[in-house]
Amino acid sequence: MTTSDEFKQAPHKLLVIPGPVEVSDEVLFANAHPTVSHTSADFIKVFGDSIRMTREVLFTKDAQPFLISGSGTLGWDQVAANLVEPGEEALVLNSGYFGDSFADCLQTYGAKVDQVRADLGASVSQSEIEKALKAKKYKIVTFTHVDTSTGVLSDAKTIAETVKRVSPDSLLVVDAVCSVGSEEIRFDDWGLDVVLTASQKGLSTPPGLSIVVVSQRAIKAFESRSVPVTSYYGGWNRWLPIMRNYENGSPSYFATPPVNLVHSYHASLLQITKAAPSLEERFKLHREASQRIKAAATELGLKQIPLDPAYAANGMTTLYFPEGLGAADILPRFAQHGLVIAGGLLAGIKEKYFRIGHMGVTVVDSRRNDVDEIIEALRKSINEAKS
Ligand SMILES: Cc1ncc(COP(=O)(O)O)c(C=O)c1O
Repeated sequence: MTTSDEFKQAPHKLLVIPGPVEVSDEVLFANAHPTVSHTSADFIKVFGDSIRMTREVLFTKDAQPFLISGSGTLGWDQVAANLVEPGEEALVLNSGYFGDSFADCLQTYGAKVDQVRADLGASVSQSEIEKALKAKKYKIVTFTHVDTSTGVLSDAKTIAETVKRVSPDSLLVVDAVCSVGSEEIRFDDWGLDVVLTASQKGLSTPPGLSIVVVSQRAIKAFESRSVPVTSYYGGWNRWLPIMRNYENGSPSYFATPPVNLVHSYHASLLQITKAAPSLEERFKLHREASQRIKAAATELGLKQIPLDPAYAANGMTTLYFPEGLGAADILPRFAQHGLVIAGGLLAGIKEKYFRIGHMGVTVVDSRRNDVDEIIEALRKSINEAKS
């Protein structure tokens, strides 16, 4: 029998795309826990603790987490199916590819969607948000905290202040798939209504878990719907009693949870919320690693997509290829140096840039030297491709 101290994952290229990201041996080993009954007392405790620790990560006392088998995309479906009734108005603040997809998802469930699009490399300005909110009443307003296609970080706190001031009845929904764990999010202090994310990025867990955290105000809005929810699997009418039961320690069943993955998520949450570094230090480590990587890129003459360093994500970096070079010149060189990075994603400039993820254990565990490796591989790959 292997113990957690002995377990070492197989050698592999360093996974530094903007998610999924590297997972520690401890978290991966937790996934190898014997598969248990989803209604066993031990598992109920692990699930209940995972719900409670999810609240800690977002600094919320009473918001309701939903931990459901699925990916980040299931979070969009949950919002669209449970919080918006067909024909209701939604405003999407769009800072890249993932804003388009969220809008598409909302429309799929019958929402009437308006979008305010940011210029490439920028987030939507407060004045444009204010103008849109004054022009129409919206049931929900959504924005992408870090758009993984552009690496643009939106100012969540200020957006929340603007929405509260101009349209206090609108529910504020944050797509935080690429920011939970790597960027500060103060759910209660900022008055957020939904933060949706997934296991595979800043939460340093393998992919497969949709994590959605919902304010009590939004739960009330859901409970006072006038028409039934239009999703079977994603309906909070089915999941809410299950989440409450898990937290209260009682067995219940709607659809089988991914028991092994929940063990993994639990192990990662223990590291994030109960071990050093603290959450605040974790965010600082992400900022420092990000600055180092971005400074190295600048030294090499590379330009980032975010126009203003204040609006550049701390868990990832987007860089234009040097003039005359493309993905085929750069990505294989990173691979030769032992790293997996990602190409572009945003239509129109897809071929012109690449993306590096630096989230979770890669920046938090300095013994791994991942950040040094990223910088080293970046220098070598760019210099070799240019020569
Ligand atoms: C900002 C953002 N939103 C949503 C998603 C969709 O998540 P998933 O691919 O886990 O379904 C992603 C995926 O990268 C993302 O980065």
